[in-house]
Amino acid sequence: MKTINDINFKDKKALVRVDFNVPLNDDFEVTDTTRIHAAKDTIIKILEDEGSVILMSHLGRPKGNQEEFSLKHIVAAATDILGVQVKFVEDCIGDAAQQAAANLQPCEVLLLENLRFYSEETAGDAAFAKALSQLGNVYVNDAFGTAHRAHASTAIIAQYFDEKCFGHLMTREIESLNKVLETPDKPVVAILGGAKVSSKITVIENILDKVDDLIIAGGMAYTFIKAQGGKIGDSLCEDDKMELALEILEKAKSKNTNIHLPVDAITADAFSEHATIDNAAIDAIPNGWMGLDIGEKSRSQFHTVLMQAKTILWNGAAGVFELEPFSHGTISLGKSVAASTAAGAFSLVGGGDSVAAVKQFGFDDQVSYVSTGGGAMLEMLEGKTLPGIAAILD
Ligand code: 3PG
Ligand code: MG
Repeated sequence: MKTINDINFKDKKALVRVDFNVPLNDDFEVTDTTRIHAAKDTIIKILEDEGSVILMSHLGRPKGNQEEFSLKHIVAAATDILGVQVKFVEDCIGDAAQQAAANLQPCEVLLLENLRFYSEETAGDAAFAKALSQLGNVYVNDAFGTAHRAHASTAIIAQYFDEKCFGHLMTREIESLNKVLETPDKPVVAILGGAKVSSKITVIENILDKVDDLIIAGGMAYTFIKAQGGKIGDSLCEDDKMELALEILEKAKSKNTNIHLPVDAITADAFSEHATIDNAAIDAIPNGWMGLDIGEKSRSQFHTVLMQAKTILWNGAAGVFELEPFSHGTISLGKSVAASTAAGAFSLVGGGDSVAAVKQFGFDDQVSYVSTGGGAMLEMLEGKTLPGIAAILD
């Protein structure tokens, strides 16, 4: 397979699918530019070859052509980050797009309007994909965050190109995950957090074989504790998943994977930062109280496990970190992952709220790799083949 470094883009028009689905504030300013920064080296490589770059992305989930979802809102941020004036065209197919692409000179960058203004994008419509493909002569997919979608611009389009490759970001994401799940230095420790067992079942099943230690933090721990006969008060629990929780514990035993559950909790008498707060053993939480974070003893036990790790995978928060009183367990995990990384471990943070947490608490520079993918990373952890990746490999 060709990598982006194997291709000389001189005088070529590269159609690059990026994931510029970034958050905007009420003034339509980009509030988190991570995904734009992450695509920069791919774009610069093409420009340095004296090729031209046609960027295509979605933004949000618009219903038809809704101005608030226009990618024009990100032109200023992209221009600033790339250090090149980004041109913009108010459509992604049709005459205007074709003209703009045809007029594009070497070393110039053009951004197309939101792909999802056409329902054909998410439908994976072949005619729409073909129309997009006519704008360029090389296809580069660097949209890791959208690689789990079988959409026109992420998957269907690839068949219309002889020359296609992943961008640098896509390659980094795939290599980082392989470093954790396929060729890791041992011991491998995974931290799984988040509220629900049901949303992480497939991830747990896929990684049980691959890790030495599995730390289960977050709301889903309570289903495991209750299943083992513990009293969890009013903590979150999926009663219909208790049997499954016991099966997972059994399976882990047979695979010699150590599962580490919290031993204590920060409890509250309401789901609020103004609640009365207390501590309890994880299996002795009184009625009327709920566990909303891991306690001190759990933090220190998890720290010990993490300091022995050579490879760490972190997905999901330890508690309700959005509320200050219940953020300290997640912050403590972040500190432990950072300390272990400083001592030589490779650490990957990916999928959903753990990425938000490491950014919010400033650990993103202290771990080895922070994924740009939420759902995409989760599906990779589940062992699925992502359509956006498969389309390039085909
Ligand atoms: C994301 O941020 O999750 C990706 O950009 C994909 O967006 P989607 O979930 O709307 O498909
Ligand atoms: Mg999503």
